Amino acid sequence: MDGDGRLMSCLTVTVALGARSYDVLIGEGALEAGAARLAALCPRRRALIVADGTALGLHRARLESALRKAGLDALIHAVEGGEGAKSWAGLESLVDWMLDQGMERGEALIAFGGGTVGDLAGFAAAVMKRGCAFVQIPTTLLAQVDSSVGGKTGINTRQGKNLAGAFHQPSLVIADTGFLATLPAREMRAGYAEIVKAGMIADRPLFERLEALGANALEGEALTQAIAGAVAFKARIVAGDEHERGARALLNLGHTFAHAFEAEAAKGALIHGEAVAAGLVLAMRYSVRLGVCPPADAARAENHIAACGLPARIAQLPGGPYDAARLVARMGSDKKNTGGAITLVLARALGGAYISPGADPADLECFLNEEMER
Ligand SMILES: NC(=O)c1ccc[n+]([C@@H]2O[C@H](COP(=O)([O-])OP(=O)(O)OC[C@H]3O[C@@H](n4cnc5c(N)ncnc54)[C@H](O)[C@@H]3O)[C@@H](O)[C@H]2O)c1
Repeated sequence: MDGDGRLMSCLTVTVALGARSYDVLIGEGALEAGAARLAALCPRRRALIVADGTALGLHRARLESALRKAGLDALIHAVEGGEGAKSWAGLESLVDWMLDQGMERGEALIAFGGGTVGDLAGFAAAVMKRGCAFVQIPTTLLAQVDSSVGGKTGINTRQGKNLAGAFHQPSLVIADTGFLATLPAREMRAGYAEIVKAGMIADRPLFERLEALGANALEGEALTQAIAGAVAFKARIVAGDEHERGARALLNLGHTFAHAFEAEAAKGALIHGEAVAAGLVLAMRYSVRLGVCPPADAARAENHIAACGLPARIAQLPGGPYDAARLVARMGSDKKNTGGAITLVLARALGGAYISPGADPADLECFLNEEMER
């Protein structure tokens, strides 16, 4: 126990990348349990933190208390969460702040917030004096299960999402589930979509455990276990293909559809995990249409996603109405594409995702038009 009666134990998942390996500490109290390790990355006894303003407002006292007990003074650069944070302007102001603090290469930058703050912080750390260490303290479910692990960092440009960035691995990730207590239910559900995704790609037992739990998968110890399952899955994929030259692209199951919806949605109406949820169902159903996946597997995916209160059909997605031809045009500019042809991640079964280059745009448009009628 710490002085506030918090249990200082957590699950640990290691991302095995040789000399750049790092641990992900998961659970309620992971912050206090990991504070000494964090302090070891801050040799000047100060913690340089870029923080989501909302998460900071809710959890500042706890964060500063844990750091103080580990002998660290907190220096905080607060930013507004959301996609706006991931911009050239946001990067410039963060790097300027780090330089103004006299930050040295040997010091770590700490990201406290959701995926947007984590992506921004990681990119700033990658370019700061040609690379300094950074630590992720993710405060959204999406960031705990997905974005804080794997070293993809970056910002959005006026041409689209995540188009400028770097691979830069964190030195430590502290996924304290206590921070999720203040997360709006909609954001919780959105993060859960990425957990389901992990099972659907290549971990059928994980999917089946989640399916059996239904909406209860989002509660208490079941949630900690589900986060650890998804992180362990991602850690295995990243360890085998750090720079996305092969299997790591599987993590994009549902994302080619999702990114198209996000690009087309009314501004601010649709959040990433919601688009992913519908995208996962579309990827399964398109696989059925191509005759490669049993319809029963697609139905199970759809039923579980719907049971957890996530949008499983296009008609349920906020931010519409959507136009199939425009969606397919968006899919044509996805980062995974090569030679102008659309690459999809499809599935032969639940837990059997594969990369499928050369999708037929006319057939995709027809499929999306049919799906909009459901
Ligand atoms: N790098 C990667 O591998 C990777 C993977 C997946 C997603 N992403 C990126 O992650 C981003 C989405 O991340 P996100 O869903 O965490 O969004 P986000 O960072 O915008 O956070 C969502 C909202 O939750 C608020 N918030 C954060 N913590 C809170 C807390 N504890 N309590 C209450 N409110 C809190 C934020 O202020 C914000 O309004 C996208 O930009 C996406 O591209 C990156």
